[in-house]
Amino acid sequence: MFDRFFRRSPPSFKLQINSPALSFTASANDSLLQTALNHGLAFPHNCRVGGCGECKCKLVSGQVKELTDKSYLLSADELRQNYILACQSLPRSDVCIEVALRAGVTQHPLVTTRARILSVAPLTHDVVHLRLAPQAPLRYSAGQYAAFAIPDEVAGASARGRSYSFASSPRDEAPSSELDFYIRKVPGGIFTEWLFAQAAPGQMLDLSGPYGDFGLRPGHGPIVCIAGGSGLAPIKAMLEQAIADKQAQRALTLLFGARSQRDLYALDAIDEIRRNWSGRFEFIPILSDEPADSAWPGRRGLIPTNLPAILGTHLADHQAYLCGPPPMIDACVDVLTHHGLARDQIFFDKFLDSSHAACTRQAESVLI
Ligand SMILES: Cc1cc2nc3c(=O)[nH]c(=O)nc-3n(C[C@H](O)[C@H](O)[C@H](O)COP(=O)(O)OP(=O)(O)OC[C@H]3O[C@@H](n4cnc5c(N)ncnc54)[C@H](O)[C@@H]3O)c2cc1C
Ligand code: FES
Repeated sequence: MFDRFFRRSPPSFKLQINSPALSFTASANDSLLQTALNHGLAFPHNCRVGGCGECKCKLVSGQVKELTDKSYLLSADELRQNYILACQSLPRSDVCIEVALRAGVTQHPLVTTRARILSVAPLTHDVVHLRLAPQAPLRYSAGQYAAFAIPDEVAGASARGRSYSFASSPRDEAPSSELDFYIRKVPGGIFTEWLFAQAAPGQMLDLSGPYGDFGLRPGHGPIVCIAGGSGLAPIKAMLEQAIADKQAQRALTLLFGARSQRDLYALDAIDEIRRNWSGRFEFIPILSDEPADSAWPGRRGLIPTNLPAILGTHLADHQAYLCGPPPMIDACVDVLTHHGLARDQIFFDKFLDSSHAACTRQAESVLI
């Protein structure tokens, strides 16, 4: 009961990024990445759970506590040069790091706020559409995500947060007053079990954002978008944004992977995108577990094995955007690069959780 009276604030250190001009106070409880983002820096990052390697930086001096194993993400050379993952490193002394900050991207201020649940509406048997009203104005770019704190009554104050992609493009130039998310229930999952069983309109959540740099890049060639399960959320937001920005002229193929017909959702929204896309637009749902005797007239199987038949085998002029379970993304990237798509023209957002930081590829069908 008296805990909170005796709780000490964590020690703080100095974090220097590239030069003394970029020096900040860093709490021992915040990752180096979090401190950099809190100060508005365009620090490269994506997953924030130690699974993508985007936040790697060189530790020039100082000590950090590393939360996950980085060795499978960094090369032997990078390990020798003292590279670390900024999202998994807590300062334990004054720290100096070097990193190439991102240039030419819109850097929205990182906001931490409370948000009221407006509705939790089922889209399928295991995906809901969560609508939130943030109390503080929040700007983001389509493709980015927010981090939700797990409510204290669910898992205790020390539980780490969860990431969810914005499922709609920002509605206009003003900060968004309503936020949409598509969230799939993970059996046994701490946050999603609570969301599906107990969350109700009026309840409050703590959230922060925006994070990540997934988003449509400039280009002229055809686009292929690949969404697995709830990975449709940021892809839908990006395509809506392209239409709003009058950048919808490029030929686009959208592949949506789901288990069966009952797992398909947001088809009306996809149809609206199709109607407003000025270039060629093709939507292809692919079902991995549809009963063999059903009347489903569309494609079946896993997305990677369907790719060559859909896209052809000369993809050098394409750009690809993928979102969803990591094994699906890994398998698709292999196929796309095998057929000539340059690796630097493939952009993805893996729905990682912290367990992925230590594991390698699994079968695609396990996770969609
Ligand atoms: C950048 C980013 C964006 C994301 N956006 C979305 C989104 O828009 N919609 C969405 O539904 N999810 C999204 N996720 C995944 C989400 O953050 C959570 O990992 C997921 O909802 C599980 O949370 P939980 O607390 O219910 O499960 P946890 O308590 O974290 O996990 C319970 C168990 O399930 C496993 N597990 C966790 N996630 C999955 C999974 N996806 N599939 C199978 N097993 C899993 C864990 O390893 C653990 O063993 C995103 C993740 C990242 C990194
Ligand atoms: S952002 Fe640090 S590993 Fe992905």
